[in-house]
Order: sequence, then C-alpha cells, then structure tokens
Amino acid sequence: MLRRTAASVHDYRLTAQSILPRTLFEYVDGGALDESTLARNTADFEEIYIRQKVLRGEKVDPAGPVLGHIASFPVALAPIGSLGMLYPQGEILAFQAAHAAGIGACLSSFSVCSIEEVMPEVGDGDAFQLYVLKDPGRTEEILARATAAGFRNLVITVDTTHPGMRDRDLRNGYRSAARPSLSMLLDCAMHPRWFARSWRSLGRGLGNFAHWDGVGSGLIAQAAYMSRQLKTDLTWSDIEAVVKRWPGRVVVKGVTDPEDVARAIGIGADGVVVSNHGGRQLDGVMSSIAALPVIASRYSGEVEILFDSGIRRGSHLLKALALGADGCLLGRSYAYGLAAAGADGVIAVLEMLRKELTMSMSLAGVTSVEDIKKRHMACVSLREARPNVSALVGFS
Ligand code: LAC
Repeated sequence: MLRRTAASVHDYRLTAQSILPRTLFEYVDGGALDESTLARNTADFEEIYIRQKVLRGEKVDPAGPVLGHIASFPVALAPIGSLGMLYPQGEILAFQAAHAAGIGACLSSFSVCSIEEVMPEVGDGDAFQLYVLKDPGRTEEILARATAAGFRNLVITVDTTHPGMRDRDLRNGYRSAARPSLSMLLDCAMHPRWFARSWRSLGRGLGNFAHWDGVGSGLIAQAAYMSRQLKTDLTWSDIEAVVKRWPGRVVVKGVTDPEDVARAIGIGADGVVVSNHGGRQLDGVMSSIAALPVIASRYSGEVEILFDSGIRRGSHLLKALALGADGCLLGRSYAYGLAAAGADGVIAVLEMLRKELTMSMSLAGVTSVEDIKKRHMACVSLREARPNVSALVGFS
C-alpha cells in the first residue's frame, strides 16, 4: 500500500494509532471519564475566530521566549510519561528533536530513560517535571538528581493529587495491573512495527525509580506502583517548600482558576501553566482556552503564563497567544509524531505547527509574538455572540 504524506497532527495521530499497541495508544490519546474536557479543549478553539487584516506586506517571525529562553516559535515540549515505550530512547529523541527545531523540552519524572541517561545525550536541560510524592525522602532524591543534572526550570504538576480516572486505561489494565496480562501481550504481538523496534526495551520501566524498594520491574508494574505514590494531601505550603529549595525557575503546572494563579504567584512561582492536563485529570473542568483570558488579563506580566491542552494546529497557537499566553506547551501532538517516526516524527510535527502558525500570522496580518500580544483581542473574536461563552472567555 502506498503511504501518503502526513499533512497534519491528525494524520500523525492515525499513524500512531496503527503502530502502537492499544494499551499505549489509549494511554496517550485518552482522557478522564467521559472525555468531555478532552474534547472541549480542542473544540473550544473553534469558538474563536481569527481577525484577518490583509495586505500588511511585512515579514513574519514567530520566535518568542518560553521557559526563560527564546524559542524559534513560542512552544516547548510538555512532559509526558513513558515516552520511551512509544519509541526506544523516546525521551532522548524528543529532546534532541526539540533542540533541532529551536525549542525547549521538559522531561517527565515518569520517563523511561532516567535523568542521568537523558542529560548527557541532550546537552541543555531546559526543564524537569516533578510530582510531589508521599515519601518526602524520595521527592528530595528526585529533586537532588534534577538539581545535579542542571535543569533550569522545575515544572511542578499540581493537578495530579490522584491519578486520573481514565476508562480506557481501566479497560486495558494500564496503571492498575500488577503485571502484563495475556491481552496486553497479544496486543504487543499484533503490532509488529512497534514490536520490531521495541522488543529490546520491553523489560524497561520508569527509569528514575527503577532502583526503589517495592517498585517492581517493568513498565506495567512500575506505572501502577508510582500511580499510588502521588501525594494526595498536597498543599500550597508543600509547593512553597519546593520553590524555596529549587535553585532555578519554578513553574506551577495545572491551574485553571485565577485564584490558584494568585496563590502560585504568592509562593514565588516564576510561571504557571494554564492546563487541565490535556483533559486527563478532572473531567468536566472548563477547557484550558476558556480559562486563559481571565487569568491573562489579571496576571500578565507578573508571571510567565504558559498554556497547554487541546493544541493540534498552528492557528490554535495564534489564538492562545492572542488570548494572553506567553507561550504554549505541546503534549499529545508530539507524542503522536514520536510514536509514528521517532525524532523525525517529532521534528515533522514541530515544523508543521511552526509553518501553520507562521502562515496564520501572515494571513492575519500580524508579524511577531509581541505584535499578537500587543493587539490581543484585536486578533481574535468569538464565532457567535453568545453571552455565556463571552463571559467565560473574557469577551465583553
Ligand atoms: C498522565 C500523568 C502521568 O497524564 O501525568 O498520565
């Protein structure tokens, strides 16, 4: 069969679906409960129109600062767990692809390749993501290793005090089964392209924790064990203690309420990520793009406002920037690219999104990220004048 060229993130998603065992694809692709927030995250972008100004004749440059560094376009790779199972050495490849594309990346605590494996291969440690664990000694061990590795930014995830309730994972047994089931093994065997490249790394698990007592061996056991180690009674004072302890910048990831942003600023955070974890945690919470404008209108300039959840197009990036994001994190978009074609797939996805953003900016008559932010609401409008939605996204 002739393979057609992938034209979009959606195409990479379909390729990832055909290559990956269902358990892995659904872990990446799925969301919490009815997946209503997952769906709204992307759908709500379509409630916002870009305002078009023609014949401006100016050159477009989408470069902008993210996580304290100028990126070739204002995005960084979000932390995603278990990337090394989607493609061998997935975390290393993702970082390398990001750097090749001129952007930064954030390593997940729940990575297959450990901090110590990744860092010598990638040179620049943009960001490390932390889950605060029940055991303070273990949280401190991870922090000490991340500090020694020289990461500039610590991204603390605050919306995962409980592992997300995801029907697809439950059905597959992922993050609940103690060992691979027969159906998981059959699932792997029935995906020969994935199996041929991954069989050597099948015994691997979550590299950062592999030496801990009780964690078990292999990804299935370790993912289930680590899901139970998240600190359920986490509070702002725990996060404040981490902010004081970390030598670099701290970004609080997973806020959608302005009051929570005020709390993050109050404890000294340098940045926040307006995010509902890609619809993977609290189903029914508003889309990230609906949460963004109010937060940006109150706190822009006080704290770096990053945005994620639902971005599948460069035009979505333009809308998020126009509604006040300083920069965006990409999650599933690049995971699909990685699963489809390793580092080349990540680079291709990033090039697509950068091109889509640049073209959208050019056609809309804006020349730079600064220009988008300066013109703000002049760049976008609501699809329909619907008072409830207008109030939600801060349009008057
Ligand atoms: C997830 C956790 C690992 O979304 O962040 O699966």
